[in-house]
Amino acid sequence: MGAIRVSAREGYALWADTWDATPSPIVALEQRALLPWIARLHSRRAIDVGSGTGRWTARLSAIGVDASPAMLAVAAGKPGLRGRLAAADATALPIASGPADLVLCALTLGHIRDQAAAMHEFARILAPGGTLLLTDFPPAAATVQAARDMGLRSLSFLAADLSSSAFNRPVEWPAERQSSVAPELAELDCEMESLIAGYPADGFILEAPQKLRRIVAHFRAHYGLAPHIAPRCNAPWVSAVVESNGDVRPCFFHAAIGNTAGTTLGAVLNGPQAIAFRESLRVADNPICQRCVCSLYVETQEPTQ
Ligand SMILES: C[S@@+](CC[C@H](N)C(=O)[O-])C[C@H]1O[C@@H](n2cnc3c(N)ncnc32)[C@H](O)[C@@H]1O
Ligand code: SF4
Repeated sequence: MGAIRVSAREGYALWADTWDATPSPIVALEQRALLPWIARLHSRRAIDVGSGTGRWTARLSAIGVDASPAMLAVAAGKPGLRGRLAAADATALPIASGPADLVLCALTLGHIRDQAAAMHEFARILAPGGTLLLTDFPPAAATVQAARDMGLRSLSFLAADLSSSAFNRPVEWPAERQSSVAPELAELDCEMESLIAGYPADGFILEAPQKLRRIVAHFRAHYGLAPHIAPRCNAPWVSAVVESNGDVRPCFFHAAIGNTAGTTLGAVLNGPQAIAFRESLRVADNPICQRCVCSLYVETQEPTQ
């Protein structure tokens, strides 16, 4: 299924009523990072650009400016915000030059097409010596560009593993921890589709487009909106994972099938426990495989499963 693209204004018109109630790991992370900065400032005249439903506007006793009438309507229903809000674009702020000692633009810059014009406006309304606080998360395409700028040869995108005990996680994460990391589905879908739209021909992104879409499908299943579907994988037949304590696993996610202490890797891989595991594993039906975020398929002459 492809993503439907809407403008920020249309998107926030749809989202406004549920924005405050939608738990977002991005908002939670941003809030954790920004709070100490805000606490240090004693601003007397703050302007919150892209103020949305007033998450920061109320806390800062700021003037809020936003392009979405729907988000502003939600903000206006909150105590102390009525009369402190204005509908305008960040690139044409209805504010005189120089009165603000703080301009906050939280999780908004990425929506603004002409970011240079917005920055010009922020500089215009800030008093000399004032503070500009910007928060945002780069889209996946910007991450690709940053990786190129750093001189990396390639980049790989995988779904975050929320539910397994792999990678030395001794117990499965509780639901609250999982939901604080799980991405917002529509946003992730748009991110992956825009990455695919500009898919580089030089192989810089290691996942083929269908594997990028699988990341979205993985979280759709995580939210209970679709069944979990196992990937094509023959990892246990063509590879093994050896832990630092000698434990040998058939892949990152399945339990150990032996240990190299006092024996050889070959003996473990060809021992009765390993053979029994491979003989009984049906990747398509296995619940661990169905939630797998990192599969492997290697073409072989030998039949695997
Ligand atoms: C992710 S919300 C963030 C809201 C608020 N700053 C917060 O952190 O809770 C982004 C907000 O930016 C607003 N926005 C998007 N493009 C804008 C623009 N060009 N000018 C002003 N606001 C804009 C949207 O309407 C939306 O309310
Ligand atoms: S699909 Fe994942 S969990 Fe299943 S065998 Fe392959 S790597 Fe292991």
